[in-house]
Amino acid sequence: MAKSDVVVPLSKLNSPRDTLARPVRDLRISVMDRCNFRCPYCMPREKYHERYKFLGSNQRLSFDEIVRLSRLFVKLGVRKLRLTGGEPLLRANLSDLIGDLTDIPGVDDVALTTNGVLLSRYAAELKAAGLKRITVSLDSLDPEVFAHMSGGFGGLNDVLDGIEHARSAGLDPIKVNAVIQRGVNDHTALDLVERFRGTGVIVRFIEYMDVGNRNEWKPDVVVPSKELMARISERWPLQPVEREYRGEVAERYRFVDGMGEVGFISSVTQPFCGDCSRARLSSDGVVYTCLFANNGTSLRDSLRGGASDDELLATIGNIWLGRSDRYSELRAELREKPGDHHKVEMFYIGG
Ligand code: GTP
Ligand code: 5AD
Ligand code: SF4
Ligand code: SF4
Repeated sequence: MAKSDVVVPLSKLNSPRDTLARPVRDLRISVMDRCNFRCPYCMPREKYHERYKFLGSNQRLSFDEIVRLSRLFVKLGVRKLRLTGGEPLLRANLSDLIGDLTDIPGVDDVALTTNGVLLSRYAAELKAAGLKRITVSLDSLDPEVFAHMSGGFGGLNDVLDGIEHARSAGLDPIKVNAVIQRGVNDHTALDLVERFRGTGVIVRFIEYMDVGNRNEWKPDVVVPSKELMARISERWPLQPVEREYRGEVAERYRFVDGMGEVGFISSVTQPFCGDCSRARLSSDGVVYTCLFANNGTSLRDSLRGGASDDELLATIGNIWLGRSDRYSELRAELREKPGDHHKVEMFYIGG
């Protein structure tokens, strides 16, 4: 029986809970699998070279298709939409999509994650379209470390310029996400704090994760958030801040001297699967229920084959009802048999 044929009572579809009683609240939409960086931990340049076959434009969901699916996810309980990539600003006319998504009744929050290189060009346009806030990935302020971490593409100054344009455009808050790897950029982590403290920009440190199949992750490359926090608070005392919402990924701390806050995303040392209410939609229309999933359900053919909203709702509702993912909690166990767990790549599914 096809998934969409399963009869699910309407009451269950209104706000489905997965097998671990988690609702769906957050939809992360990858709008573009291409990227203008080649971060070695995500898209190593040897593999993603000029001849690599990314999705063609007809394989990607159109804006209308993305908006239609977003509306359906909202019916199921989603309140927050995040656009990711690859690099979402490589998608032409992205502001049009932002405008449509912010207009959907029931959506409380639309966010965007970018590497920031094109932000100076688009910040004002994004803001005018209705985007309120933005997250920029920036792993180091040291030009050499930055060049290594972006695969030699894009300039550090372009990213910093992008952040300034985001600020002048009134995007608020601006968050900076830094993935920290021991022996690669951990020695530059405090520079990020120093630079952005007191500016309103919120720096968040992310523990390096074993996403995808190519980043040669090893536990000793992870810098536990606790260790980083101890280093930061030795210099700038910190105190914990209450979580803003259930399932919030970052643990937040404010500087005791009032100069703002920092966050830590500790999916390796303190997994947060228990409250995970995130679904992911790839740029070609596949729904994944975990960042570490090995397969998903394509909605594109149904969308293009004339499926009704109710049919699509039933399919998505059933995907969520059947969900049992908690990879980060099971990481150690699952990694013992790596052959059995081929994961989707992060540039394709979004961060
Ligand atoms: P805010 O809405 O600003 O609170 O952001 P967020 O909590 O949604 O975090 P963001 O989208 O900036 O994600 C930051 C990073 O956290 C991602 O790039 C991932 O590395 C990691 N992350 C986000 N969601 C998940 C998740 O569901 N599982 C795991 N394991 N990591 C995640
Ligand atoms: N571990 C943690 N975060 C990662 N990101 C990409 N790969 C990884 C990884 N292996 C982050 C990027 C960006 C977001 C899209 O995902 O740095 O902040
Ligand atoms: Fe691009 Fe982000 Fe992947 Fe780096 S981590 S290659 S910026 S998608
Ligand atoms: Fe959610 Fe999967 Fe991340 Fe756990 S590992 S928090 S289930 S996306």
